[in-house]
Amino acid sequence: MKKIGGEFQIEYKQLIEIPHTGLYSEKIYFSNGRNALKYILIQLKTKEHKSTIHVPYFICKSVIETVINLGYKINFYEVSQKYELPEEYIETINEHDLVILVNYFGFSKNKIIIQKIKNYNSNIVCIEDSVQAIYEQEKSNADFTFNSFRKFFAVPDGASITYKTALEKPNQLPQNKFHYHKLIGGILKTLKPKDTDFLDLFAKGENLIDDEKGLSGISTIGCWIYENTNKTDAQKRRKENYKLLYDIGKESNIKFLFDYDPHITPLNIPIIINNRDKIRNELFRQNIFLPIHWKLDSFNKNSLTCQYISENELSLVIDQRYNSEDIIREMDALLKLINKYNGNIL
Ligand SMILES: Cc1ncc(COP(=O)(O)O)c(C=O)c1O
Repeated sequence: MKKIGGEFQIEYKQLIEIPHTGLYSEKIYFSNGRNALKYILIQLKTKEHKSTIHVPYFICKSVIETVINLGYKINFYEVSQKYELPEEYIETINEHDLVILVNYFGFSKNKIIIQKIKNYNSNIVCIEDSVQAIYEQEKSNADFTFNSFRKFFAVPDGASITYKTALEKPNQLPQNKFHYHKLIGGILKTLKPKDTDFLDLFAKGENLIDDEKGLSGISTIGCWIYENTNKTDAQKRRKENYKLLYDIGKESNIKFLFDYDPHITPLNIPIIINNRDKIRNELFRQNIFLPIHWKLDSFNKNSLTCQYISENELSLVIDQRYNSEDIIREMDALLKLINKYNGNIL
């Protein structure tokens, strides 16, 4: 049965077309989201001694580690019910501080709050994390925005920064070491071996990312695959899948974390259910692998939002690998389990 979810596989056929020369892109791409953020923070630290950064509790651990390793002091904020920085928080931010705002799953409308922060003090630096919102990145009004290619596309590595405030262009960065494992894992997955064969490679790649100390860039092969990926087709399919999934879910009273928005291209569709772990485990057995965002960690264990989300959120997949048949299968399986475990609806 076709697998739904999990990391992207990489079609080896597209690698056959790789030219032997001219692989380098004009653009500078970073190896991953963390490295893109690291580059922004290093650049800013040399400027006006900015050392305090405001970060939501609701974020993945890797961002926190990146910020701490660069010696920043973190002030955490709790997101509002709309999953945004609350307006009343703005007055706690000092001139020259940095603020990270996350575009969750592609749904967040940070534009208005960023404008309010800038109106309050234009020297506060806004960094929007678009790792879950690559298609929304160009619309951002933050000073800096960064993404991560492998979250949306079948590529081993890569990330880019967009900026409103001038940023020094980095020199050519050394290729990262983790792409090899992600690439081979991705290719192996197409050959349908035992799951552990490619899962071990993916895990090794993630461990290498976690252990990396310096700054690294995209691999030449990752860059080539990324630049030759048809992002418009992927976007169209994601939007169609999202619409279909939403229509089915709405009819069955699924509790979506965000209202339907035809103008965005989401990463996943987060829902809230009871008995999330039981349901998720049973879905695994039906070859449906749905992620969660995120487990609770020591830095956010007292956040009420994070406690609630870490227990009840499930991220439904709608990406370009799937057609309407797959989405119907995903929703059928989910709805049956919701009935079985009374997982509906908090
Ligand atoms: C919101 C968010 N920001 C940043 C990152 C880090 O991205 P990367 O793993 O490419 O370094 C992630 C990773 O999942 C993320 O979900």
